Amino acid sequence: MRSKNLFRPLLAAVLTTAAINASAQIPDNLMIVDAGKKGIPVQETMYGLFFEDINFAADGGLYAEKVKNRSFEFDDPFMGWKIFGNVTICDDGPFERNPHYVRLGYPGHPAFVTGLENEGFFGIGVEEGKEYRLSVWARTSGIKEKEVISFRLCKNDTMGEDQAFCRGYIEVDSREWKKYEAVITSPLTEPKASLRIFLEQLSPAQGVDLEHISFFPVETFNGHENGLRKDIAEALQQLNPGVFRFPGGCIVEGTTLETRYQWKNSVGPVENRPINMNRWNYTFPHRLYPDYFQSYGLGFYEYFLFSEEIGAEPLPVISCGMACQFQNDPATHPHASIDELDPYVQDALDLIEFANGAVDTKWGKVRAEMGHPEPFNLKYLGVGNEQWSEEYPEKLEVFIKAIRSRYPDIKIIGSSGPYRDGKDFDELWAAMRELDVDLVDEHYYAEESFFENNADRYDSYPRKGPKVFAGEYACHGADGKKWNHFNAALLEAAFMTGLERNADVVLMASYAPLLAHVEGWQWRPDLVWFDNLNVMRTCSYYVQQLYAQNKGTEVLSLTMEGRPVAGKDGQNGLYASVVKDSNKNEYIIKVANVSSAPQEISIRFDKLPRKQTILSDEISCTTLHSDESLGENSLEHPDKIIPVTVLLDPEQLQNNTLSTTVGARTFAVYRIPYSE
Ligand code: AHR
Repeated sequence: MRSKNLFRPLLAAVLTTAAINASAQIPDNLMIVDAGKKGIPVQETMYGLFFEDINFAADGGLYAEKVKNRSFEFDDPFMGWKIFGNVTICDDGPFERNPHYVRLGYPGHPAFVTGLENEGFFGIGVEEGKEYRLSVWARTSGIKEKEVISFRLCKNDTMGEDQAFCRGYIEVDSREWKKYEAVITSPLTEPKASLRIFLEQLSPAQGVDLEHISFFPVETFNGHENGLRKDIAEALQQLNPGVFRFPGGCIVEGTTLETRYQWKNSVGPVENRPINMNRWNYTFPHRLYPDYFQSYGLGFYEYFLFSEEIGAEPLPVISCGMACQFQNDPATHPHASIDELDPYVQDALDLIEFANGAVDTKWGKVRAEMGHPEPFNLKYLGVGNEQWSEEYPEKLEVFIKAIRSRYPDIKIIGSSGPYRDGKDFDELWAAMRELDVDLVDEHYYAEESFFENNADRYDSYPRKGPKVFAGEYACHGADGKKWNHFNAALLEAAFMTGLERNADVVLMASYAPLLAHVEGWQWRPDLVWFDNLNVMRTCSYYVQQLYAQNKGTEVLSLTMEGRPVAGKDGQNGLYASVVKDSNKNEYIIKVANVSSAPQEISIRFDKLPRKQTILSDEISCTTLHSDESLGENSLEHPDKIIPVTVLLDPEQLQNNTLSTTVGARTFAVYRIPYSE
């Protein structure tokens, strides 16, 4: 006992010295959060979705219609269809802007057949036990008072006796055009069915006319009849987007002005929305899709409604009177001159009225008649997509004057062209400042090194003047790695710490493109892939989701040795940013470790407000990691790389400092609760 007592003071002295030394030693990768200052508000518009009908994202994708060329309006009216027997095309149908329809007549012998078959978009996907609605505009055109048509879902390559696995009938009972509907339930799941339609009860002098043949799942996103594919729409909703940009992209501009996206063609009854060529039909001849058109069934009303239903600000982009500058030679197909801009400007003004106008205005009435008397509360409008040359600011100025004089609250988004830097980019930014646009749309599809080296891109942007909409970006792996792999997503996560940190400059950001059908893509990487029945979220999707679900309410300062953590020299491949969520009483730290070694980090909260206590229980860490740098999710293995959440040991928090290790090549999100 005695000897123990003798040694005790000595031991205490040794321990104290060790403790002093330990506390004096600065841990590796010490990140300091300045919790004392009010932070920069995080914009509700972070993080967003960029939607374009590329890769069969609309028709054949988000838009739930399963029939291709339902109104026989493609250049070849039977594209997507096979016909048998006596089928002719006519062009004096009931819908002025879609005049074609088919006439089915007696095939010449009761044992012959008359009918047609639609191939859908890479087949027609149906699921066991689910209901589907066939609708068709029809009239009798022969002598008989009534005609019966049957429709069948078929599996053309079956080895079974009967190709048809589901049947329905419609009786056409009028010489006037009428809409007919029948609902069937599929007895099985089949990704690549075809839809066959037959004229029944064959006899001479009979005939029936069919127009707008449509086949929809009854169950769509929020149950709308002309609705969206539920699984894809839900995947987008789960991104918690702050803004929804539509309808593109290049399709806004058109290869020629005639083929630009004209929003007025995309509203009103679907049967009478004229189709448009889709430029992604032919833009890349090495990925040619000659049957790619825009039905406009998913049009501006549906885009506004979807924005509202997923809680995102709608952000339409309209033509500025310039066709695609990559594709179109103005010598042969001139852009609109300043004198010719009126209809384009009027389209912009009318669009604002369509979205926000009272129900007794011309376009507000159209919206109300479509089912939404309340305004959509449009706040942002993009004018022009990837434009350049002096012509663009000259034209934009005309739009700005007209819009601001009538709708001063609408925020206008201008373009900085297709490139992320360089002469055009600088000149366009200067012009955008001069014009005092509200936001400038920047695009960067770039290789790994760009994302690795530019997390500080916005740290030095001017704080005054137009703000940034990082409207299209994605890491495109160099050297043949241009697809959705983990490393690309990790570098996006690293780069995005810089978007988050600069919340006073970057008000919106959206990865692009958003959607791609595995059998119909022209461009990759893309955020979400799908086939006719399944959806696959990429690693990049999870990065976007982790940001959007953890966006907090204000951005605070986080530094390592006095500098932002942006993967610079001496920062060990680390990138980090911090937000506070005042609604949930949490600090949220995002750390990307792009190095191939695990990194010990310490996150210290300085200048904590009095009465505020960091809580050590319930500190969570969500990580996205793959051992394979080029690992990816696929439709077969959609959950190979997904975020994983664990609770940290409360002991890891000492003296307002969280000590932990970020695994090699890992994106980590820490949620640290506090009380006050
Ligand atoms: O996202 C694909 C295309 O990339 C967009 O249509 C265009 O804006 C950009 O060039």
